Amino acid sequence: MPEKRDLVSTEGALPKHIAFIMDGNGRWAKKRLMPRTYGHREGVKSLKKIISRVSELNIPYATFYAFSTENWNRPEEEVTELMRLFDEQLDDLVNYQSENIRLRFIGDRSALDKKLSEKMGYYERETAGRTGTTACFAINYGGRDDIARCLRSLSLQLRDGFLRPEDISEGLISSLLDTGGIPDVDLLVRTGGEKRISNFLLWQLAYSELYFCDCLWPDFDESELELALESYSGRQRRFGRV
Ligand code: FPP
Repeated sequence: MPEKRDLVSTEGALPKHIAFIMDGNGRWAKKRLMPRTYGHREGVKSLKKIISRVSELNIPYATFYAFSTENWNRPEEEVTELMRLFDEQLDDLVNYQSENIRLRFIGDRSALDKKLSEKMGYYERETAGRTGTTACFAINYGGRDDIARCLRSLSLQLRDGFLRPEDISEGLISSLLDTGGIPDVDLLVRTGGEKRISNFLLWQLAYSELYFCDCLWPDFDESELELALESYSGRQRRFGRV
């Protein structure tokens, strides 16, 4: 494990799109004899630090896995608190960091509270013209669900004669996924010690570099991000070539 050290400007290649599985909030809180929801609140502080740093580094896209399609199975009060946290924090984020952050959301909004999903749509439209980092939040997101919804939309277009089977290309599929218009992920960071993808951006991670660390998400800060970026810049990406 490289040593943690003072922040230095990152040299070498930076990812254009970095994605985060923010794992470990519950364990972080448990260690402090606090409820899991306290861990999520602290996790928002890390999220904001990381958005600031990613924006300073001019990384164009950062995606955060905030709530998966499977997370509905958590205790009701945890789900309610997470939804409340999104609702409250989105207002903060929209005015955040010289107001130049563009907000995007991925995931199936139909199951979300109507007011929350309207707010998400409104903030997307309001921030669409901004030129800074796009902060993309995955809420009620599942990689398989993303692909299934894309297939459903393709089938309707085929059925109604707007598409021919030979029109279906990788590019078309990418454009119809929730991340349409956003480049594939270059670097995936997962905190919390587990080494799995957990149904995150399955199509979009095809050629991503993966970085796993033991640090729990509320402890993930700028210097931890630096370690992930250093690891990324030292890797040779071959995309199937030699
Ligand atoms: C995983 O940790 C974390 C989550 C399921 C929620 C992450 C959400 C946030 C940090 C808030 C995001 C806020 C906005 C505004 C998008 P865990 O609870 O599974 O941790 P554990 O593995 O230790 O139990």
